[in-house]
Amino acid sequence: MTGFPKDFIFGAATDAYQIEGAMLEDGKGLSVCDAFYGTPGKSWNNQNGSIACDHYHRYLNDVAIMKEIGLQAYRFSISWPRVMPAGTGAPNAKGIAFYDRLIDALLAAGVQPWATLFHWDYPLELYKRGGWLNPDSPLWFAEYTAVVIDRFSDRITHWLTLNEPQCFIGNGHHSGTQAPGLKLSWAETLLAAHHAFLAHGRAVSVIRARAKKPAIVGYAPVGCVFMPIDADPGNIRAAYEETFAVRPKPEVWNCAWWMDPVYLGTYPGDGVKLYEADMPKIGADDMKTISQPLDCIGTNMYQASYCRQRADGTRERLDHAAGIPLTTYTWPITPDVLYWGPKFLHERYKMPVVITENGMANVDMVFRDGKVHDPQRCEYIDLHLDAVSRAMADGVPIHGYFYWSLMDNFEWEHGYRHRFGLVHVDFESQKRILKDSAYRYRDIIARRNA
Ligand code: FCB
Repeated sequence: MTGFPKDFIFGAATDAYQIEGAMLEDGKGLSVCDAFYGTPGKSWNNQNGSIACDHYHRYLNDVAIMKEIGLQAYRFSISWPRVMPAGTGAPNAKGIAFYDRLIDALLAAGVQPWATLFHWDYPLELYKRGGWLNPDSPLWFAEYTAVVIDRFSDRITHWLTLNEPQCFIGNGHHSGTQAPGLKLSWAETLLAAHHAFLAHGRAVSVIRARAKKPAIVGYAPVGCVFMPIDADPGNIRAAYEETFAVRPKPEVWNCAWWMDPVYLGTYPGDGVKLYEADMPKIGADDMKTISQPLDCIGTNMYQASYCRQRADGTRERLDHAAGIPLTTYTWPITPDVLYWGPKFLHERYKMPVVITENGMANVDMVFRDGKVHDPQRCEYIDLHLDAVSRAMADGVPIHGYFYWSLMDNFEWEHGYRHRFGLVHVDFESQKRILKDSAYRYRDIIARRNA
């Protein structure tokens, strides 16, 4: 791995519903996640995030762990219904006070807070009023954003608006596998997505207008990347084009539908053609609102497939080779996703890139020596950071990398089945153990800082 510049940010990420717990504490309102994962049959062994890592009570200990690892930045999400129990209207002073304490603890530990405004825990009260289908939903999100910015922007300068719309719209509103578990028509799904884009744009305007310190603002969709099978220019072009191609409904795993509106101010032409009959009505100023200038391309990138150009010039997606290593989540381990992905995103959107999530679920267990040995994850981190540094050496501006996740947590419909953390959590005792990979990451950061 070649050297990382001093200002490259090494961080780790989490999300409110997956770690906080304290579902009903201190006036918090319910979210669609509380409702959905609290319903039997919706997750592995009917598990849910009502306690999760109990981070709400253990945040000081968790911040001390971040300091021990030497994290420079911590990406966490703010729970909208903890801050505003009904989604709009009266804020919840005690919920706000929790984030005040967390932010102050992070700053005292020398860890820069990066806040995600929305990581899927939509207020249940607003969901009952139509949720993302309601044309007022962008205004509700702007109102919440204003409360957050007024309160925290004296200390937080790095903001991400929405996490992975492909998931909370695609899985949450169309296939129904994640909260809120809807199976809407494609037209309604696209409408919900359009409102989420508008919410993003309005939030960016609110941040720009009200932040007390200059803000770095981004957005964190899934980076759905295709890698060329080799360095042949035709194959590289095919992989680039496949990365930005929109595929027929109900496939949501593409970049362009979820990024072009935000970064280019247009829906991609191939998608508009494919979805013609289902397209939402687009208001005169909508695309302008959606494409407020941002400071970076945030993207969650875990894995990718290969693609090549056929002799007739068309593109062909390839299956992974037999025996490719898989994580316990069954995602293939393809480190070059962090070489090609940032390259392609930068080529299209001409902005610096931040890897807002990357990581793996592994067979993690406490060994008889009391430690958690996870050599696969150590290697995974090395290989993926190596890919980042190769992309940077080729001139791609990548400003940071956030490992997902700081600690093992509630993995949505999979319950507690998958461990992604640098830190092992015993969900019975809430004991934390730093895995070998946490020490590996600590050493990588320390070496760069030396
Ligand atoms: C991403 C989510 C995150 C976590 C990881 C494994 O899709 O943003 O909350 O579930 O995957």
